[in-house]
Amino acid sequence: MDSTIRVSGADSVANELIMDFPRHDTDTARAAHQALREHAQKTGERHLAALFEDDAQRFERLSRSGCGLLADISKQRLTTETLSLLSELARARGLQSWIECLFKGEDVNWTEQRPAMHWRLRDTKDRAPDVHAQLARMERMVDRILRGQWRGCEGDAITDVVNVGVGGSDLGPLMASFALSEQRPPRGHRPRVHFVSSMDGSQVAPLLQELNPATTLIVVSSKSFTTVDTLTNAATARGWLEREMPGRNGAVLRCHFVGISAQPERMSRWGIHEDNQLQFWEWVGGRYSLWSAIGLPIALTIGMQGFRELLAGAHDMDRHFQDTPWQDNLPVMMGLVDVWNLNFLNITARAVLPYDGRLKHLPSYVEQLEMESNGKSVTRAGENVTHHTCPVIWGEVGPNAQHAFYQLLHQGTQPVACEFIVAARHDRLNADGSEFKQLEDQHQLTLANCLAQSRLLALGEHALPADLELPAFKRYRGNQPSTTLMLDELSPRHLGSLLALYEHKVFVQAVLWGINPFDQWGVEMGKVIATDMIQVLESGQGGDNLDASSRALAERARCLNQD
Ligand code: F6P
Repeated sequence: MDSTIRVSGADSVANELIMDFPRHDTDTARAAHQALREHAQKTGERHLAALFEDDAQRFERLSRSGCGLLADISKQRLTTETLSLLSELARARGLQSWIECLFKGEDVNWTEQRPAMHWRLRDTKDRAPDVHAQLARMERMVDRILRGQWRGCEGDAITDVVNVGVGGSDLGPLMASFALSEQRPPRGHRPRVHFVSSMDGSQVAPLLQELNPATTLIVVSSKSFTTVDTLTNAATARGWLEREMPGRNGAVLRCHFVGISAQPERMSRWGIHEDNQLQFWEWVGGRYSLWSAIGLPIALTIGMQGFRELLAGAHDMDRHFQDTPWQDNLPVMMGLVDVWNLNFLNITARAVLPYDGRLKHLPSYVEQLEMESNGKSVTRAGENVTHHTCPVIWGEVGPNAQHAFYQLLHQGTQPVACEFIVAARHDRLNADGSEFKQLEDQHQLTLANCLAQSRLLALGEHALPADLELPAFKRYRGNQPSTTLMLDELSPRHLGSLLALYEHKVFVQAVLWGINPFDQWGVEMGKVIATDMIQVLESGQGGDNLDASSRALAERARCLNQD
């Protein structure tokens, strides 16, 4: 390899990390940073068991509630002094004025010179006319589908809706529709809602085989309407519909396709009829877009009233974030905790662990929201950061993860910050309205496991009987920090609040790290470079410009495809 090739950008960041002062920090911020480093040296390694022993009021001091959620950070390796010091740092880094800029609609997304106004989509009291108009249009569409008035080109009512999208145009609506699917629209007949994202066709092909073309509606969701994954799947669906219902002269497109995008001309060019287009705006980031018409699958699952409840819950959190003093402010508190774990305790991984099968897709949603937002290494000043930014995040439904990767959490070598998410209540009824006792018991069992795991992870053997003698391989050292987010119940309103909490927490972290959470330049180049690679695979041309590994892999795949 050319020895003149320099290690730059993220590589050099990774090598030099990681808890240095940002070069442009003010004196106050430097002082706050230094105070936190000293504090971390003194208290950071204290075992959670000792922290609980020290302070009988620890839960009361380190848990906060709002908008139907309780956030318990008492199992984090910190004290109230830590939070005060972190607040000093946040103050010195201008958090208050950044929050104001966000909600004034200033260009907080400075690399793309635009505001980030996802919060505007859920301002239930003062809805902007453009937002209101699209919501009303979406409502009419939902109403027609649910009432069976939207007809396919052979005159049948719609029974199945396929959302074709990827990233933010898939993960948010998929997660929320699945989470809330026990709710039903108050009126009408709910269609089955399916999601297709993967570009290789492995989702769309078997799904289409199961569906009746005459009663299927395809929703093409793409902010940019250029994403190849989505457009390829949409083209496959279109080919299928046109093949199955030949000679319909455009009626297939007219009756079986809806488009949702910030680019109406591109939707029209693709063939989506103007009446079937729902729009949103460039000022809504893809991963922040479930509140816009991208939420159509959610509205079809729970009804428009339920969707409005979801928006209202998010709006509750917007108000909470703006109006609540920092010591009681959930997004601020959670953002500070993550900064503490990553930058001062050097805990570089976080596990998202919902104890609720309905939240099965939450980890993927959070992975995109946090890692695409804060996986950055260049500051506002255009310099490489001198501290870690986003941790590595992964997750799974907690009870299933217990049988998969909890071994590493309990006895592995890595510290991992855990996040437990659980609903305190989950009412389940039989068809006659009576309590479904067996499912109630299953909920209690799940709650018990959630609480037991966070306790064991935190306290280790201190959670076990004192006289228990264990050989080394059976020991639990504990001290794995966690936050528990307890929802009163998993209603549309509380889910809305929870998701907005994550969004604002991401913003708080980005302010402290001095980065832009609203762009995603890192994923753009992959799209361009893949286009060049197609040519190599198809014709073998251009392979000389590739590295030896990529060239050999492309050649092997090309040969195997020719056989
Ligand atoms: O992967 C990059 C990305 O732009 C995400 O930010 C976005 O959610 C996804 O692709 C899909 O983009 P679009 O909605 O424009 O198809």
